[in-house]
Amino acid sequence: MGIRSIVAAIVALLKPHRETAMARTVHKLDDVFVAGGQPSLTYVQRTDVDVEPILAKAIATPNQLVSLSGPTKCGKTVLCRHVLRDREFIWIEGGQVANAEVLWNKVAYKLNKPREVTKTASTDSSGTIGAEALLKAEAAHSRSSGTERRFELDPMHTAIDHLVTNKVTLVVDDFHYLPQEARQAFLQNVKGAIFEGLKIVLLAVAHRGQDPIKTQIELVGRFANIAVPPWTPNDLRAIPEIGFGLLNVSCPEELLRRLADEAQQSPFLMQTFCREICSDLNVQETRLAPLGVPHDYPLAALFERIAKHSGQPTYEKLVAGPQARKQRKARPLHSGDAADVYEATLRAVAATGPASPLAFETLRTSLNKLVKEKVPATHEVTSALKNLAKISKQMGVDQGIDWDDDSRTLTIADPYLRFYLRWMVRRERDEAPALRLEP
Ligand SMILES: Nc1ncnc2c1ncn2[C@@H]1O[C@H](COP(=O)(O)OP(=O)(O)OP(=O)(O)O)[C@@H](O)[C@H]1O
Ligand SMILES: [Mg+2]
Repeated sequence: MGIRSIVAAIVALLKPHRETAMARTVHKLDDVFVAGGQPSLTYVQRTDVDVEPILAKAIATPNQLVSLSGPTKCGKTVLCRHVLRDREFIWIEGGQVANAEVLWNKVAYKLNKPREVTKTASTDSSGTIGAEALLKAEAAHSRSSGTERRFELDPMHTAIDHLVTNKVTLVVDDFHYLPQEARQAFLQNVKGAIFEGLKIVLLAVAHRGQDPIKTQIELVGRFANIAVPPWTPNDLRAIPEIGFGLLNVSCPEELLRRLADEAQQSPFLMQTFCREICSDLNVQETRLAPLGVPHDYPLAALFERIAKHSGQPTYEKLVAGPQARKQRKARPLHSGDAADVYEATLRAVAATGPASPLAFETLRTSLNKLVKEKVPATHEVTSALKNLAKISKQMGVDQGIDWDDDSRTLTIADPYLRFYLRWMVRRERDEAPALRLEP
């Protein structure tokens, strides 16, 4: 018996034991597919791009502010939390902050910093509080009572002092939600402290590729901007591959491909698809016996259900258009129904796929195919697009549609809106045959 045969015999003997041991690890569905939270079991380290090491290196580099930007739902928060997992950090949600003062109050609160300290002539109960914070407070707010004096502390100075001394990273998520003045004031506040070693990471949705930080202040040489690259279908399909594997569920190759193609470059949508498929198949935890997702699993119905739950509120605001004083013209469509200029435009966008970015000429062609009579003139369409972009902006920079009048290009940054247009608005009879997707 050769050495190879002996090794093969030993491996064969051990195999059943290994499988039994593996099967004993039971994972809950909620822990496997995490849509909207921090996934750990199905966290995908992207292979096509080195975004984790790039972000880690930028954070480790002293004396620079790091900004992480990318489209909504592309995984900015998850990526940052993953990269920071071994570091101490304070996390502030930009959406809860009206101005820089509120932001510093929150940081100081999270750091458990007192709002005031008591000092006597001989002792100083301020502990580790930096002289700058205390002195500033002393000048502004000192009150005397005998030999004891109380001092209100300046939250910004106490917070920055602590962050620098203890090497704690400050993260402001959704920085774009802060009002412009608050962003400016905050960046002014930290400019000097970055020089002292303060570590800051700002997460933001970039608007037309414009960074909300870069435009605020010249931090030349002290600023690293990392753009989260779009997810490829290859990286997206790693989510079901890992997750289904952990749950002992197998998924046909064709379905995996369709899921990755339909996820609109969003890991969030992919996690949602997988969760829903498992719920449909009643898989709540790792199965003892393997289960296959049927080849004829009704994907189109799943997509429509998810689209309806997620993209509808945004779409409804857009399709309603701006408040109009007079009633809008109803335009008869080839499909037999009629639509005003907003609905016709959105349906024409949807019929292109929707494609994003979308050149005006492509949209124009799509509209011409859709509308039978009273086809809107070019200036009517561009005016509708401007209004759609305006409504989107009022909903928040990460919502909906953006129209660039210079390049005459429409962009739909929100993957959920693209998904809604694709699965709820796109009608088979409206669309170009080449874009049709069989369920
Ligand atoms: N690396 C990843 N691996 C697997 N799933 C991920 C990954 N990154 C993100 N996701 C999934 O996408 C969801 C959204 O991610 P995240 O909240 O980080 O996006 P975001 O870009 O911060 O969105 P927003 O613009 O709304 O703040 C997560 O809850 C998770 O389900
Ligand atoms: Mg986020």
